[in-house]
Amino acid sequence: MKNKREELIQLREQALLGGGEDRIASQHKKGKLTARERIHFFMDEGSFEEIGAFVQHRSSDFGMEKQKFLGDGVVTGYGTVNGRLTYVFSQDFTVFGGSLSETHAEKICKLMDLAMKNGAPIIGLNDSGGARIQEGVVSLGGYADIFYRNTLASGVIPQISAIMGPCAGGAVYSPAITDYILMVENSSYMFVTGPNVVKTVTHEEVSSEDLGGASVHSTKSGVAHFTAANEIEAIQKLKKLLSYIPQNCEEKVPQLAYESGDERRPKLMDIIPESSNQPYDIREVISEVADEDSFFEVHKDFAENIVVGFARLGGKSIGIVANQPAFLAGVLDIHSSQKAARFVRFCDCFNIPLLVFEDVPGFLPGTDQEWNAIITNGAKLLFAFCEATVPRVTVITRKAYGGAYDVMNSKHIGADMNFAWPSAEIAVMGAKGAAEIIFKRQIDLSENKEEALKAKEQEYATLFANPYRAAERGFIDAVILPEETREKLIKAFAMLENKVVNLPKKKHGNIPL
Ligand code: HXC
Repeated sequence: MKNKREELIQLREQALLGGGEDRIASQHKKGKLTARERIHFFMDEGSFEEIGAFVQHRSSDFGMEKQKFLGDGVVTGYGTVNGRLTYVFSQDFTVFGGSLSETHAEKICKLMDLAMKNGAPIIGLNDSGGARIQEGVVSLGGYADIFYRNTLASGVIPQISAIMGPCAGGAVYSPAITDYILMVENSSYMFVTGPNVVKTVTHEEVSSEDLGGASVHSTKSGVAHFTAANEIEAIQKLKKLLSYIPQNCEEKVPQLAYESGDERRPKLMDIIPESSNQPYDIREVISEVADEDSFFEVHKDFAENIVVGFARLGGKSIGIVANQPAFLAGVLDIHSSQKAARFVRFCDCFNIPLLVFEDVPGFLPGTDQEWNAIITNGAKLLFAFCEATVPRVTVITRKAYGGAYDVMNSKHIGADMNFAWPSAEIAVMGAKGAAEIIFKRQIDLSENKEEALKAKEQEYATLFANPYRAAERGFIDAVILPEETREKLIKAFAMLENKVVNLPKKKHGNIPL
């Protein structure tokens, strides 16, 4: 027995070394942590239990039978994060560059199956050279097995991908199906085809960083929802993100301890500028309304004309979608519609109530937008709100114009409570544009056209640039003072806590993709 115990202890020690000390040193030299170190920082201390530490690949081509490493390039297991059950796989770049073999894929699939059966999030820490080249099609099959499970798990358990090294070729599609992608700056990249292929096919010369680094994907493509300056910051962000999200689609949102006090927020009185054409930062409104320091922004640097993210209200998680008047006047365009639609759908999957702050002048005009399908993309946001069954509350702070009024969680598409500040302007369009169209003939015939336009503009503004016409109809449930907003929202969400909506029976809807 003594020898057998020693054999196990030795095997365990060997497994801990992955691809060996030299390769671990080379990983550290690149400023990267190893797969195991990442898990160590991610999971609650002492909680991680490994599964499959002794798995080895089955390949014998190219002399592979002589190159075997315990674990085969991925560390998999479970433990707790913030005290809650969490599954994690962490690719080990020291073993064949973290490349995905048949057995490596099997380990990930086994973990995904467990996560699904037990209703807890699964987090992937990706650092891989892609398909294990020596294995050919079995590796491709392994990827497809993962993609299939990612899709089945979508909307059932949260799936989050951190990219901490290379992620190229078809390998990008597993993270792409998951709910969130976080990339580490300057040490991770994602692309379908790398710089060499790009050069051959399109003659463009581009570095890995410029093609698919964290900065590109968090600002231009929107593929990455979060970035982090380094791996430790990345791990902290993953933990923070998880803290807002239920364990699965059956659970309600986490509730932190909260003691209610004076919920009035006088600072909200001074945020909206005198002139309705002047910008202001909607984040100031969010941070006053939400629990202190609780706002956690998603997609911060992408489509900045809309702000989305998690926050807490009275200790409970909510998802916030807010037009941003400080960027492109808060107009809705292709990217902002896609960004908000994806966020709304995530919140709806996981029972996270939605709060919308609305100040939107309409959809962005122009050939670029029309030719790139603002129609289809704007419809995504409309569709996402229409089908969301979580508690939904809107606060119109200023402009609610045109089709954008309908889209931004209006009463008509299923919002539960719609508030407006006295500064709200709810109309088909701004007063000047409206006057120019409907009073064109009178203005043309008048002696002083400028004066005439001003007078008609004023007439239209008096009639429509306010919240009371909408309140008259019941499209607005209450016109509230800005400083009352937080109090009203806490009460509204408490009232909606047990909301039940039964949608028509169907296989699934057909969101305009
Ligand atoms: C097997 C691999 C490997 C791979 C790297 N290695 N990628 N082994 N299959 N895909 C091994 C290397 O041989 C080396 O082994 C070790 O990992 C580290 O690799 P280096 O090249 O020394 O590291 P580095 O200089 O940091 O470069 C990393 C890299 C590069 C950029 C990822 O290794 C690379 O370009 N790899 C190939 C990437 C690729 O083309 N993959 C296939 C993509 S297509 P030793 O023994 O020396 O330590 C794909 C299709 C998926 O993935 C389709 C899904 C549907």
